[in-house]
Amino acid sequence: MSASGRDWSIRGAIPRDAPAVSEVARAAWRNTYGALIDAERIERFLTGAYSEASVRRRIEIADRFDVALARGDTAEGESPGADRVIGFAEWALRGTEAELVATYLLPGWQRLGIGRALHARAVVGYRGRIERLTVQLLRDNLDARAFYESLGYGQPVVGEWQLFGLALPDLRLTLPLAAADDGGGGFKADRGGHTRPDWLS
Ligand SMILES: CC(C)(COP(=O)(O)OP(=O)(O)OC[C@H]1O[C@@H](n2cnc3c(N)ncnc32)[C@H](O)[C@@H]1OP(=O)(O)O)[C@@H](O)C(=O)NCCC(=O)NCCS
Repeated sequence: MSASGRDWSIRGAIPRDAPAVSEVARAAWRNTYGALIDAERIERFLTGAYSEASVRRRIEIADRFDVALARGDTAEGESPGADRVIGFAEWALRGTEAELVATYLLPGWQRLGIGRALHARAVVGYRGRIERLTVQLLRDNLDARAFYESLGYGQPVVGEWQLFGLALPDLRLTLPLAAADDGGGGFKADRGGHTRPDWLS
């Protein structure tokens, strides 16, 4: 896929992606929550939840863990032209639901349709297997709320997330799988039997 002249693709994560996923999470967390949570708590959370070892384990035990890659966008220290992880989506299975545990993109790669594509890939994978998708987000993360609502999530349930003694209002949103968009490449008879979205390269 290409957005604004920048090529990207999506594939399942492998444990070797852990350092790059950790970097994406750190950059996106600081950028997204800097105005909502103090820096000390952010760093404490990242050290626990997004150390390379934690991310490797998360990749191994997640029900699904997909990464978005920028083609030939080279990070410092990488060989020229190497694909670079610019975002990810992590899912956990909970009975008849799949929960989007985390989805983050590097700040420079947001709002290009990549979050929607990561989500659509999971919808394709879950179609026929489960009843609904859920996500939990900070109530004051208005951009993320707009993103989820654009995907059809609703039925907000208000709650609270305790982060090292700080109470943060949060929301749980739900999307019945029957109403979820798979990006047009899912199990649609009018696409000549294709079951593979074109962005799954
Ligand atoms: C939230 C996030 C994963 C969305 O991915 P994305 O690639 O930026 O979003 P998309 O480009 O696929 O957006 C799809 C639609 O969602 C809505 N949307 C996304 N971001 C939005 C924003 N900041 N404000 C308003 N609407 C937004 C729009 O309707 C958009 O469609 P459009 O661009 O055609 O108008 C990404 O922006 C991100 O990593 N944000 C920071 C971290 C974060 O908040 N993660 C979620 C934690 S719960």
